[in-house]
Amino acid sequence: MIKKIGRNFILETKNTIYIFKLLPNGYLGHLYYGDRFDEKIFQNIKSNIRRTGNTVEYSDDFPYSLEDIPLEYSTYGKGDIKEPLIVIRNYDGSNTSDFIYDSYEIVKEKSKLETLPSSYNCDEQLIINLVDKYYNLKLQLFYSIFYESNVIVKSCKLVNNSDKTIKIEKFNSSLIDMHNKTFTITSFFGNWGNEMNKHQIKLTAGKYVISSYTGSSSNRNNPFFMLSDDDTSENKGECYGFNLVYSGNHYSSIETTQLQRTRIVQGINSENFEFEINPNEDFETPEAVLTFSSCGFNGISKNMHYFINNHIIRENFKNKIRPVLLNSWEAFYFFFTEEGLLELAEKGQEVGVELFVLDDGWFGNRKNDQSSLGDWYVNQDKLPNGLNGLCNEINALGLKFGLWVEPEMVNVNSDLYRVHPNWAMNINNKKHSEGRNQRILDIINPEVSEYILNSLKRVFNSCNISYVKWDFNRIFSDVYSPYLKDRQKETSHRYYMSLYKIMDTLVNEYPDILFEGCAGGGNRFDLGILCYFPQIWASDKTDALDRLMIQNGYSYGYPLSSYTCHVSICPNHLTRRTLPLKTRFDVACFGNLGYELNLNLLDESELEEIKKQIEFYKKHRELIQFGQFEREEYENGIKWSILKEDQKIEMIYHNDTQTTEIRLNGEKYE
Ligand code: GLA
Repeated sequence: MIKKIGRNFILETKNTIYIFKLLPNGYLGHLYYGDRFDEKIFQNIKSNIRRTGNTVEYSDDFPYSLEDIPLEYSTYGKGDIKEPLIVIRNYDGSNTSDFIYDSYEIVKEKSKLETLPSSYNCDEQLIINLVDKYYNLKLQLFYSIFYESNVIVKSCKLVNNSDKTIKIEKFNSSLIDMHNKTFTITSFFGNWGNEMNKHQIKLTAGKYVISSYTGSSSNRNNPFFMLSDDDTSENKGECYGFNLVYSGNHYSSIETTQLQRTRIVQGINSENFEFEINPNEDFETPEAVLTFSSCGFNGISKNMHYFINNHIIRENFKNKIRPVLLNSWEAFYFFFTEEGLLELAEKGQEVGVELFVLDDGWFGNRKNDQSSLGDWYVNQDKLPNGLNGLCNEINALGLKFGLWVEPEMVNVNSDLYRVHPNWAMNINNKKHSEGRNQRILDIINPEVSEYILNSLKRVFNSCNISYVKWDFNRIFSDVYSPYLKDRQKETSHRYYMSLYKIMDTLVNEYPDILFEGCAGGGNRFDLGILCYFPQIWASDKTDALDRLMIQNGYSYGYPLSSYTCHVSICPNHLTRRTLPLKTRFDVACFGNLGYELNLNLLDESELEEIKKQIEFYKKHRELIQFGQFEREEYENGIKWSILKEDQKIEMIYHNDTQTTEIRLNGEKYE
């Protein structure tokens, strides 16, 4: 799968091939990425070096400009002026780097990243070692092959072998220069309750950037995007898919040059980023995920879905069916009693729900969103018998029990803040801008992450918890870590290094708890979170017609088993729209199904209908959650289909009548 033939490095997956070449000056030139075909044809591909007037020649021995060569990595200062892979502020103040090929290695097992989440079970990994001998720095490029998924995962590491401290100012995970090619980009933007809007534009000149600066991967611009030929459709045409295993500020740029080449970089957003590397220290980038298909956008979805289900979702939940849940939020918001919760759970049990989730409001003195985040002990007024008392009753009904938490946050009005104001991200003596009346904890401080871990362990040990919904309801502002002092530009990245450590500890200590990520819906829907939490609440928007578009957007890059979809009450709490129960189910059915409404407000016939829906879902959920999903072309709306062995399920939305239907093996399900 990975070969070195002559000076060429050849990486193959089932249907794709990726080739780069060791150039005479010790740099690596990119040759080809795309459909797999006979190797001999490859070796004839010229590296396509052109010489133009006012460029800079690399050296006397290599009188070409790096600007004109399709590269595999790039730095500042030696002639290439496009977006670089890495920018280092050397100890002498310069930012020129000159990394030259040193050696390579092919390994079977890829090691996990030490500071960030990683994909696992690759087929082979290529490690390229490059050295900047002037500054004694080593740059490693990692390429992991996921043969069946047609995915190549790339990441990098910088090792400081010198005796001087340096600063990284920019470090992307992947750089690739496509030959003689320009693209149409498909990206996914949005905001709260309106995630994953598909957007397409033809890239002709200049730089197109997809990035986030919210302190999360964000609902503004999801890190997943595709580059295709102009006429690529759902089922036909060439397409590349890209994503990043990272939950913080991300950055991808697609730069179309005057030579009709396209440079694509993906990585950490370098805005307000800088990282100090002392002698013998290193820095690793998040993993970038690349895939290619000649079978249109559905080809990319198929590759990404397979890859995520098999190499991102942790082993314990890999291809494991997800329970039908009932969530208390839209039923009660903050205003519940133990009795009310139990009445709701009983109704849930009657209609076939498997898991009861107590959402926000169960802890501290929480009556609204203005207090108590950080105080992770049970509110005895609402739950006089504690979590254990409630959980036992729920379990006695035959239901599993789950709980909402938002551990990264603190309200100023909380016991935690009163005792430890310096545990929050606060700039000394400055007024802080709050989101949802809350601030972000400085989890880089080990004392703070220890507090979070201990508080959560206490809660998880207090009763028989099967599921945890982990929320994150605001974006970063006033970014400042009191703990980091004079290394503030490391804050955003170190935040995620700490968060991943916390998540890793918890999923290892509680391997059977099903964690669901959430960030006011999809404000942190990414592969970093999915490495720990197998599913994510896709959006706070539960209105079925709006949800159709949101779920359609997610489906391009993420498998159905990764997003949760709830049937809620009508009129919908956000849109005030009334839609039939059937429409609400038909849409929610294409994902991990849940209910989020007060079942006690429904009449018998509605309850009966829900019972049938859940029965239907349970019977076919393996097909739905793990079958092969496709978007079919349908002029009058949306058509989704899922195939597994001889089973096929379809959801069709008709624009003209605003109605939905589900078909099972061609038969209409009423
Ligand atoms: C966020 C979530 C909701 C709910 C509330 C609770 O908005 O997206 O589903 O959990 O928080 O405060």
